[in-house]
Amino acid sequence: MWTPDPTFMQAAIEEALKGAGRTHPNPSVGAAVVSGGRIVGLGFHEGPGHPHAEVAALRQAGERSRGADLYVTLEPCCTTGRTGPCTAAVIAAGVARVAAATLDPNPNVDGAGVRELQAAGIPVAVGCLAKEGIGVDPAYHTFYRKGRPHVHLKWAQTLDGRVVLPGGGYITGPEARLKVHMERYLADAILVSGTTVAADDPRLTVRLPGVSKALTRVVLDNRGLLTGREGLFATAPEHGPVWVFRPPGSPTDGLGSRPEVSVIEMPLDSDGRLPLAEVLHALHERGIMGVYAEAVGRLASAFLREGLVDRVSVYLAPLLAGTTPGPAALEGHVRPGGGARVLGQPRWERAGADWVVAADLEDSCSPD
Ligand SMILES: NC(=O)c1ccc[n+]([C@@H]2O[C@H](COP(=O)([O-])OP(=O)(O)OC[C@H]3O[C@@H](n4cnc5c(N)ncnc54)[C@H](OP(=O)(O)O)[C@@H]3O)[C@@H](O)[C@H]2O)c1
Repeated sequence: MWTPDPTFMQAAIEEALKGAGRTHPNPSVGAAVVSGGRIVGLGFHEGPGHPHAEVAALRQAGERSRGADLYVTLEPCCTTGRTGPCTAAVIAAGVARVAAATLDPNPNVDGAGVRELQAAGIPVAVGCLAKEGIGVDPAYHTFYRKGRPHVHLKWAQTLDGRVVLPGGGYITGPEARLKVHMERYLADAILVSGTTVAADDPRLTVRLPGVSKALTRVVLDNRGLLTGREGLFATAPEHGPVWVFRPPGSPTDGLGSRPEVSVIEMPLDSDGRLPLAEVLHALHERGIMGVYAEAVGRLASAFLREGLVDRVSVYLAPLLAGTTPGPAALEGHVRPGGGARVLGQPRWERAGADWVVAADLEDSCSPD
């Protein structure tokens, strides 16, 4: 075992973030090659079919890789996918030591990459900046470690806790809404209630200057409110498919015959609601790793109560709304049996005139 320098792992993490949001189903990974106490190669994974981060960094370092240390945010893979195994590239480059922030939770790797390097005589240290390493791509880790997608719950509210304005319209300003679109971009799917689609007719697309990304739009429509004429459907397929969860026997007029629209039938629970753990299981089975849940009221509380939320972002606008027609930000217990939830280590950020408070919930994926 050797002791890596966190400064170099931090450089690899910053490199990894350049690929965030575009590597699915691969993880976002960054790497740094260090020789003689300085970085001689940096690389990140740009997406499926592109070189993995280690290979990109080793290429940049060239001959200086021989005898160097390789810092990588995720254990090097030992499998052949669209590109060859990184372990073979690391061994062939003559790297002396490897530091990985975390193991790769994919069961096809999960320690096998480390063992292969060690068998080739390369010392491997795992765990340097582990929490930050998971933070590069929390959805990837949650998907494999918890067997469900990572859920980022988000809502916007006034200072008096209202999520709908008396006359309608946006609660937050343009800077905060831009941040929401960046958060959508990092996910694979956006999830909303059928009542929200019926009330607001949102497009649920990623709208960022010069960037396009198709996301799966998931609607929990346990009342069978959607007609297929909502704006959401007009944006499919170029902005992504629409998956509508409904109880069996719901009318499917208008939704049924389009390839970009899937109706996923699921029996309601004893309270007459779609069972959220089963909804997430169905999304996991379909390869969704990160869900951005734009939910409030009873639905948001249910996600929290059932322990199915990994990150919360609350957008706070400097407004007072008074009585409005919509639900409160949260309605119903947020823990089984009641009680408050403590958001550990919240991050406060200014977005124009608004504030964003974000926190990872304590039962999120722990470091390897
Ligand atoms: N400010 C924001 O960030 C924000 C975000 C989203 C929505 N909104 C606003 O909020 C209003 C709509 O709120 P809402 O109707 O979604 O909230 P709500 O009144 O609390 O209702 C929750 C909705 O989710 C459904 N649902 C499905 N599965 C559920 C489960 N397992 N547990 C709990 N509920 C489940 C509910 O079904 P049942 O009807 O069968 O109970 C209901 O339709 C709209 O006016 C929209 O503009 C604001």
